[in-house]
Amino acid sequence: MRQPTLATKLLSLASLAAVTQAELGKIHWRGLCNLTNATDMSASGSMICGTLDVPLDYTDSSSNKTLTLDIAKWPATKQPVAEPIIFNFGGPGENSFEGLGLYGEEFQAILGGHNDLIAFNPRGVGNTLPFSCYSDSVSRELASLQAPSDGRASDTALGEIWAQSANIAQACYALNNQTGSLMGTSFAARDTMQVVDALQGKDGLLNFWAISYGTTVGAVIAAMFPERMGFVALDGIDNPAEVLHGYNPQKVVDVDKVLEGFCTGCMAAPDLCPLANYYNNAAELEAAIYIMLDTLKFNPIAIPEIGGVVTYSDVKSTIYEALYLPSSWPLTSELILYVQARNTTVLGISSVYEQLKSYGESASLTSSAKEAGTGVTCSDKARTATMEELLPYIRISEALSKIASDNANGDMTCAQWNKKMYAKERYTGDFNVKTANPVLILSNTFDPITPLAAAKNLTATFEGSVLLEQNGYGHTTLSMPSLCTAKAIRAYFNNGTLPANGTICQTDVPLFTTLTYEDVWPKNFQRSVGSVDDTNALKALMSIREKMSRRRN
Ligand SMILES: *[C@@H]1O[C@H](CO)[C@@H](O)[C@H](O)[C@H]1NC(C)=O
Ligand SMILES: *[C@@H]1O[C@H](CO)[C@@H](O)[C@H](O)[C@H]1NC(C)=O
Ligand SMILES: *[C@@H]1O[C@H](CO)[C@@H](O)[C@H](O)[C@H]1NC(C)=O
Ligand SMILES: *[C@@H]1O[C@H](CO)[C@@H](O)[C@H](O)[C@H]1NC(C)=O
Ligand SMILES: *[C@@H]1O[C@H](CO)[C@@H](O)[C@H](O)[C@H]1NC(C)=O
Ligand SMILES: *[C@@H]1O[C@H](CO)[C@@H](O)[C@H](O)[C@H]1NC(C)=O
Ligand SMILES: *[C@@H]1O[C@H](CO)[C@@H](O)[C@H](O)[C@H]1NC(C)=O
Ligand SMILES: *[C@@H]1O[C@H](CO)[C@@H](O)[C@H](O)[C@H]1NC(C)=O
Repeated sequence: MRQPTLATKLLSLASLAAVTQAELGKIHWRGLCNLTNATDMSASGSMICGTLDVPLDYTDSSSNKTLTLDIAKWPATKQPVAEPIIFNFGGPGENSFEGLGLYGEEFQAILGGHNDLIAFNPRGVGNTLPFSCYSDSVSRELASLQAPSDGRASDTALGEIWAQSANIAQACYALNNQTGSLMGTSFAARDTMQVVDALQGKDGLLNFWAISYGTTVGAVIAAMFPERMGFVALDGIDNPAEVLHGYNPQKVVDVDKVLEGFCTGCMAAPDLCPLANYYNNAAELEAAIYIMLDTLKFNPIAIPEIGGVVTYSDVKSTIYEALYLPSSWPLTSELILYVQARNTTVLGISSVYEQLKSYGESASLTSSAKEAGTGVTCSDKARTATMEELLPYIRISEALSKIASDNANGDMTCAQWNKKMYAKERYTGDFNVKTANPVLILSNTFDPITPLAAAKNLTATFEGSVLLEQNGYGHTTLSMPSLCTAKAIRAYFNNGTLPANGTICQTDVPLFTTLTYEDVWPKNFQRSVGSVDDTNALKALMSIREKMSRRRN
């Protein structure tokens, strides 16, 4: 993700006031997107780009200032064209153009090709009120080097993280004091409905496919505009009330079970998981991983050749982030092996070392996407706290999971957020709502950041909603291919057909596998594939899985 420069930031601020009221509500499609510099977008050739002006500040009805949203469309490939579907890729801070550009072809294959797929860059991302806290990567890196990424790294870590977070909050304020309060989930909900209005679908209803934090946006839309909910699929739920108002330690409740899944999958596939050759069973392997981390805490690995040190925090956050995506597990297992062996030759290879370090950085702090996410999260939270007030929640998080991040960085930054950047509008109601159409809620059984319990909670509070559980591991159902899940999503968006409440879908490949989307269909798969449409959907799911792991690695 590219860092917006201060110059582009000022430019977009200057353009805010320049638009006339008459252009509000109308999308200006410019033609094929110009994404040549973005990575891994070979398939994005058919995406169309445009802009839509929306009110800058929904709370100020006397102002006519507007904001330009960048909006993208992956056009339907088949007639007749049905209602458009809006995507939200979460984060907060994910670039929607990258999401739709990367996966648009696959989403079309899953859905059957009759819908225009729409995404817009949310506030804080891309050209839309870009939110970043550092004007260059050197100052960003320096700011992130003042404390470990995990509060359990030492007795002094939490205090150091608190002090570092004070600096981060201040740095964010210094560069975003004019715009920070204009972000947040409520404005994201209103922006989404502006897009629905501008698309001028037949019924004016929102059709929405959202993952991860996008489900929080979806939940807030459902609460604010229940009568405008069309077909809405929310995959990877983080309890919205907790995200918006609480500290939410429960989100890591299943992380250690995902690590157990890693170990079980590894032992079942020794060819793809070299670690398996050193242990008798999954429990032994799991215990060894925790022992390795404990050893690293007091004995980090020096790599004199490159002046580097591999620490407890580096390895722990590398493993935690890998738990999001089983397709990255074969590589992760190799990495663990080399750390256990303290093999400085391999760990010192720049790509390996950078991987260990950059994972750590993204888990803790400041990539620009991370900063946009912090901007949204902290503006929504709008609550200062002392370190003493935060500690109990950090301790709960630490008790719930040995391998997850304790999120001290995130919580401590928000606790020191400048009040002038609190979101101007915050949804403070509950989520007991009856939506115009029932919502489809999806969750993996074992998800390292949006647990099944949160999905069950939302299913209980959204009247008429139905839960589809995918018996798999990783973050959102997209992290593992399941034709059963894909068919349920397709049927829902095609004509509103919901799966039976509590349906459990199995996945179609083992946790560790060399199967790729190019493999012969369908004989390699655990399930027989029916039609051409189903074959294409399964192929698309495998392709999503591969692209996700390529981006992460
Ligand atoms: C915006 O509002 C101000 C004051 O209400 C008015 O003077 C100005 O003409 C308006 N600008 C546009 C572009 O409508
Ligand atoms: C894409 O970018 C190139 C180089 O900046 C420019 O020449 C071209 O006109 C752009 N195309 C569109 C459709 O914006
Ligand atoms: C795109 O890449 C080219 C060649 O690497 C570079 O010259 C150009 O500045 C880049 N454009 C943008 C918008 O980053
Ligand atoms: C507010 O932001 C501007 C840049 O947008 C900056 O020049 C100024 O110093 C900031 N003010 C404070 C108090 O940080
Ligand atoms: C480190 O791993 C490499 C690659 O597997 C191996 O060739 C080398 O001998 C190992 N070095 C040590 C010191 O074990
Ligand atoms: C759902 O979560 C909210 C917020 O944490 C909580 O107040 C509520 O009791 C939960 N509802 C159910 C049915 O678990
Ligand atoms: C689906 O099952 C959940 C959990 O039992 C329940 O809370 C929810 O109300 C059910 N939804 C429907 C439509 O019956
Ligand atoms: C809904 O669409 C699915 C295909 O996605 C189809 O199998 C099913 O029969 C349709 N149901 C109705 C009631 O039209």
